[in-house]
Amino acid sequence: MPLAPGLHFDVPVQLDSRPGPRPPAGALGSTATRPAARPVLSCEALHKIYRMGEVDVRALDGVDLVLHAGELLVLLGPSGSGKSTLLNILGGLDVPTSGHLRFEEHDLTDASDDELTQYRRRYVGFVFQFYNLIPSLTARENVALVTDIAVDPLEPEEALELVGLKDRMDHFPAQLSGGEQQRVAIARAVAKRPPLLLCDEPTGALDFRTGILVLDVIERINRELGTATAVITHNAPIAEIADRVITLGDGRIQSERASERRARPADLRW
Ligand SMILES: Nc1ncnc2c1ncn2[C@@H]1O[C@H](COP(=O)(O)OP(=O)(O)OP(=O)(O)O)[C@@H](O)[C@H]1O
Ligand SMILES: [Mg+2]
Repeated sequence: MPLAPGLHFDVPVQLDSRPGPRPPAGALGSTATRPAARPVLSCEALHKIYRMGEVDVRALDGVDLVLHAGELLVLLGPSGSGKSTLLNILGGLDVPTSGHLRFEEHDLTDASDDELTQYRRRYVGFVFQFYNLIPSLTARENVALVTDIAVDPLEPEEALELVGLKDRMDHFPAQLSGGEQQRVAIARAVAKRPPLLLCDEPTGALDFRTGILVLDVIERINRELGTATAVITHNAPIAEIADRVITLGDGRIQSERASERRARPADLRW
């Protein structure tokens, strides 16, 4: 596979270079991100323009963003503000019209399709609003699809235990609730121990109580495994669980704030 300068995807994922787990959260949650935290993923001057007939849709209009090691970032913004476009580009599912993208020491700006595939496969866990499980496979088999091809994966059983589904491993998706299916999808996303977890409206299809359970799993994975995590939501109260909150509007960052302390998902109300 031709590799652009700086890309070394044939090297096994160096999970040891990640910081260790965060200290356990205190009664009121963990503290805000340390300013010295190491950047894992960054983009600069990201533009995405869709040409629709005579009209240019500027889905992203100059976004600069850094995701730090171990950080939990929430991306807020109204419908059409560019959240999914941004997350898809950060995760190598889409490419920008212009701008720069960097993961660890890899410059992904001019990465080929093959290189982006390697990047996604090795380093990125995705969680979407709809769970995209394979209906004819059990929970365990859905997770094993990923662990079979990963470099140093968790066992499917371990990943499912992590999301609280130890007792449901041999259930098919149709035998699981929406929240349980989403937790299988999270187990599948994190089973390859990715340094990045990107979630697009992970609670969008769930009721309040189930949404809390799913957020709790995402928050715990971030805290215990040190996975740098970005969560897109429409739902402003969810931002309370973040180390940092970025609000998008019209394809631009409108505001950014760091939290003094993270709320526990169980304490959220919406
Ligand atoms: N494939 C596409 N072709 C043309 N325009 C697109 C395409 N994908 C997205 N857009 C436009 O880009 C803008 C940003 O879309 P995006 O899906 O990123 O928004 P979003 O913030 O995720 O919205 P939502 O909260 O509804 O999911 C929107 O105006 C959308 O219509
Ligand atoms: Mg979206």
